[in-house]
Amino acid sequence: MQAGGAIGRRNYSFLMRSDGQQPVKVAEWGVIYEDSRKPLVVDLGCGAGRYVLLMALRKGLRNNYLGVDVHKALLDRANGWAAARSLSSNVHFLQANAVASASVLLGSYPGPIELVSIQYPDPQQRRQRHIVGRELVEALARVLRPGAHVYLASDFEDTSTYMRNAFEVYGNGRFRVDDVHTTQAVFPCGLPNTMLKARDVSSVGTSLKRESLRARASGDARDLGPPSVASVGLCQGSSEDPVDSGQEGRAGDSGTDDELLCFQGSWQQAGWLQDNPVGVPTEREVYVEKATKGRVYRILLVRS
Ligand SMILES: C[S@@+](CC[C@H](N)C(=O)[O-])C[C@H]1O[C@@H](n2cnc3c(N)ncnc32)[C@H](O)[C@@H]1O
Repeated sequence: MQAGGAIGRRNYSFLMRSDGQQPVKVAEWGVIYEDSRKPLVVDLGCGAGRYVLLMALRKGLRNNYLGVDVHKALLDRANGWAAARSLSSNVHFLQANAVASASVLLGSYPGPIELVSIQYPDPQQRRQRHIVGRELVEALARVLRPGAHVYLASDFEDTSTYMRNAFEVYGNGRFRVDDVHTTQAVFPCGLPNTMLKARDVSSVGTSLKRESLRARASGDARDLGPPSVASVGLCQGSSEDPVDSGQEGRAGDSGTDDELLCFQGSWQQAGWLQDNPVGVPTEREVYVEKATKGRVYRILLVRS
């Protein structure tokens, strides 16, 4: 089913998903940007949008910039800020479910996609609101060209661990950790609090989880059935979180959430970047680093 729409002077068409989820948004890039062949910088779950605007102001107009979020009021305000700074030809904020729309939305952009960032999603306890999961990772693996970067950050280590592991497991070898992790200061990845229980469990459990995730990632879930009670019990929390409505992010296979968090792949050896590699903080980052002096767990990936 297809419907059309116009929001302000921007035109969009909507393809309804057969599974009844939010519509997938197809943007008319030629209307949105003056030159839609410019390399695109994307922030998924952009919130109020100051990071995207700061990127445009600092990096300049050789790029286009796109902020995506589900909250229309924030996006309308951010588009107003872009207009007030005469940035509308290069900066746009779009309301969409990043998970459901990434493949169609980003796959239709005429130019190259330079950077996709996912920063400070809700913490692990509310992981059903996460953007990063199998669906998004597979979409980005499809639409990004070699050399494109993916930047992940959170002030919760388990949330960053979860995102990193999702790219390592579901990226199917199409992403790697950027070399900046060998040239800039890093600090070691620890075991998040929620993983502490897993250390007490035998290595048999770990290898089972690894095989289970790999099989699920390759689509061969025929013999796996639901995750075992033992493996789900390895990490705190269950995939059924009464706090979550599941209205926003649909991180992916809820059955493998805990396994994914516990997955111990090789990327953890790269450590977390001490400093922000893209040079511009989000609102949350300013709050965490300046107001609370808290730590941020960052990783920069590149499409192989
Ligand atoms: C904790 S805020 C972080 C905002 C911003 N990235 C920052 O660092 O300041 C998380 C944001 O992700 C958005 N979000 C959650 N699920 C989303 C989805 N599936 N698609 C798009 N945005 C989503 C929320 O609306 C919210 O603005």
